Amino acid sequence: MLQTSICGITLNSPFILGSGPLSYGAKGMIRAARAGAGAVVTKTIRDTPAENPFPHMVSAGTGTMINAEKWSDFPGEQWIEKEIPEAKRAGVTVIASIGHTEAEVLHWAGKADRAGADMIELVSYSEPDMIPMVAAARKLTDKPILVKLSPNWRDPLTCAKKSIELGADGLTAMDSVGPVLRIDIRTGKPLVGGPFGHGWLTGGAIKPIVLRHIAELAAQTDKPIIGLGGVMNPEDSVEMLMAGAHAVGICTAPIMKGISYIGKLCTGLETLMKELGASQVSELTGMALPFLTGQENTKAFSFTFAASKCRTCMRCVTVCPYESRTLDAETMNMELDHGTCRYCGMCASVCPTKALTIMTS
Ligand SMILES: Cc1cc2nc3c(=O)[nH]c(=O)nc-3n(C[C@H](O)[C@H](O)[C@H](O)COP(=O)(O)O)c2cc1C
Repeated sequence: MLQTSICGITLNSPFILGSGPLSYGAKGMIRAARAGAGAVVTKTIRDTPAENPFPHMVSAGTGTMINAEKWSDFPGEQWIEKEIPEAKRAGVTVIASIGHTEAEVLHWAGKADRAGADMIELVSYSEPDMIPMVAAARKLTDKPILVKLSPNWRDPLTCAKKSIELGADGLTAMDSVGPVLRIDIRTGKPLVGGPFGHGWLTGGAIKPIVLRHIAELAAQTDKPIIGLGGVMNPEDSVEMLMAGAHAVGICTAPIMKGISYIGKLCTGLETLMKELGASQVSELTGMALPFLTGQENTKAFSFTFAASKCRTCMRCVTVCPYESRTLDAETMNMELDHGTCRYCGMCASVCPTKALTIMTS
């Protein structure tokens, strides 16, 4: 049920471990594949091993992280001679992440291909650098090339289109959001040790940013998209697919919840697919796109209230800016002042049990 394919390569599950600390080497990649990842992206391979500031990974609230971690701290040759071949021998579908300049693509793309990588993912901090990287990689490999887009760029959509013209086979969307800053109020010092305390935001907080980009990309290209950014549970993965992704990247979720969480994402997605009546992942891809038009929804909605589901938490009452909603916790009588209610929808959106819902036409 979870089997899918990206650029002609079959994946046993749509979950792809994004480039990051869990794919630090063969051992990490094999562990992720055994936990249920359909493919694994290596930590980014560059000319020189990274030296990271301290600390460089912190939790920044529920399901969200800030990191100042650079690329791989292994030398490139180690990836070519040991890490990629070892993961391949263990049966892992390996995507080699190569950054961040044309010169480095010239050094590593052909070698990664010959080492056995199934696909090449190109990543760069700078938008103008990506275009020559794609052109260089296309000359060096016939394997599928994925271009990793950044939400921090001025125009990722144009970069995606140019990359496809130059021969890119698919897109990974997206990289971390930043730079961002958090401060430890006990010391006044930044939470991560990068220059200016800058770090990059990942996990739940970035999902809406990424979803918006995925939908834009999916509306403009038929190339496969790995939706990466903020997927923390099975519901998030369905949202990512519905926005137009063909596979779902994960990085922060298995860091924060442990590698075995990839298996839970797989079983959770299967359960949700059954509920939604989907027998294949591809049936969910792009489901939301017909609803994402330039038209504003001007049709009013109505509320439904199922008292049997209500736990009288009163959140619907508390969040109403207009004091339009009241609930008598004893009689379970819910009242709405239609004269003052603006039908903003906030009350139903915070209901934890879906006792209060909205019905749109
Ligand atoms: C600690 C950490 C290290 C990362 N290192 C890399 C990297 O070396 N190369 C890369 O392309 N992306 C890197 N990323 C970005 C992730 O691949 C991914 O794009 C981002 O975390 C968003 O996905 P998420 O919200 O599921 O974590 C890193 C992310 C984290 C959290």
